[in-house]
Amino acid sequence: MKSSRLSETTSLVESWENRLYLEQLVIPSAPSEMGGDDVINGLTQKPKSLPPRYFYDDRGSKLFELICELPEYYLTRTETEILRAYAKAIALITGPTELVELGSGSSTKTRILLDAYAKLGYPLRYLPIDISESILESSAHQLLLDYPLLQVHGIVSTYDLALAKLAPSPLPTRMLCFLGSTLGNMNPEECDIFFSQIVGAMQPGEYFLLGIDLHKSAEILEPAYNDSQGVTAAFNLNMLQHLNRLFEGNFDLAQFKHWAFYNQELQQIEMHLQSQKAQKVELRGLNLTVEFAAGETIRSEISRKFDLQIIQQELSHRCLIPIQVWTDANQRFGLVLSQLR
Ligand code: AVI
Repeated sequence: MKSSRLSETTSLVESWENRLYLEQLVIPSAPSEMGGDDVINGLTQKPKSLPPRYFYDDRGSKLFELICELPEYYLTRTETEILRAYAKAIALITGPTELVELGSGSSTKTRILLDAYAKLGYPLRYLPIDISESILESSAHQLLLDYPLLQVHGIVSTYDLALAKLAPSPLPTRMLCFLGSTLGNMNPEECDIFFSQIVGAMQPGEYFLLGIDLHKSAEILEPAYNDSQGVTAAFNLNMLQHLNRLFEGNFDLAQFKHWAFYNQELQQIEMHLQSQKAQKVELRGLNLTVEFAAGETIRSEISRKFDLQIIQQELSHRCLIPIQVWTDANQRFGLVLSQLR
C-alpha cells in the first residue's frame, strides 16, 4: 500500500487492485482538528465534564478493545452472540447491501455479517468509519486478506463528517450499522442530532442496524464498568494523558482516580475522574487553568441503557420503521433493524 499520511483533510489512497480505498476526513492527532472548545466548556462548568471522544487516541482505542474481552463487560459478548444467531436472517432481509459501520474499531463483529452475506453469495462492500487511523488501516488490511472478494472503503472521520459525505451506494441497498450501544454515550439531545444525521445520509428503503444495551440491575452493570483488572480505570485515565498531549496539559494521572456507578434515576452508568486532592491543572495549548477541590470529579462518560419499546418508537418517529428486533436469552442486549420509509 502507498503511504496514507495525508497533508490535506480530504485525500484518498487507492491500492490492493482497487479493493482498498482509504479516505481521511480528519487528522485525529492534530489539535486543530480536536478544537478544544468542548474541553474548555466542559472543564469550566459545574459539575465538570469532558466529551467521551477524547478517550480514543490509539492507546484508548486499544484499551477499549481489551475492555470488550473482559469477563465483566457482557456487552460485546452478548451482541456478538446475537449477531452469530441472526446474521443470516439480517442478510436475507436486506439482500445484497453495502455495509457502513460507524465506529468500526477492529471490525470483529462485522466479520459475522460479512460471513453471512458471503455464504449467500452476495457481493461484499464495507465502509468502516472510525476516528482511529491505525486501527482502521490494520483491520482493513486483515479483512482484505481474509475476504478475497471484499471491497473496503475506510473513512477516518467523526460520524457527522462521514455521514454528511456518504456517496450513493453502488449496491442495490445500504445498511448503516451502529453497534456496541455507542448510542448510550450520547445524551438525549445528541441522540436526536445523531438520528437526524443518520436519516439525512440514507435513501428510502435503506436499513439501519442498531445495537443497544438494555435496562438491567446495578449488580450486573457496575462491575462491567469497574473491572477487576483495572482496564476500564486505565481507559478512563488515558483521557487525561490524551489531553496532556493534545493541549500541552499537566494532568498528573496519579492524582486522579477512576469512579463508575449506576445512576438509577437517569438509568445510565456514569464514569468520572475524581481529583485526589485540591490541585490546579494547566492546559497551555488552550490557555486554560482549571482548579479542582479535593474529591471533585470530571464526568468523562455516560452510558445510557435502553428500553426496546421506547427506542422503536423513537426510530419510527424519524421514519425509521422497525422491521425486526433480536435479543439474547437474558434480554441483556438488543439489535433493532429498521428501514427508512
Ligand atoms: C463505546 N461504549 C459503548 C462503551 C460503553 O459501554 O458505554 C464505552 C465504555 N466505557 C467504559 N467501558 C466501555
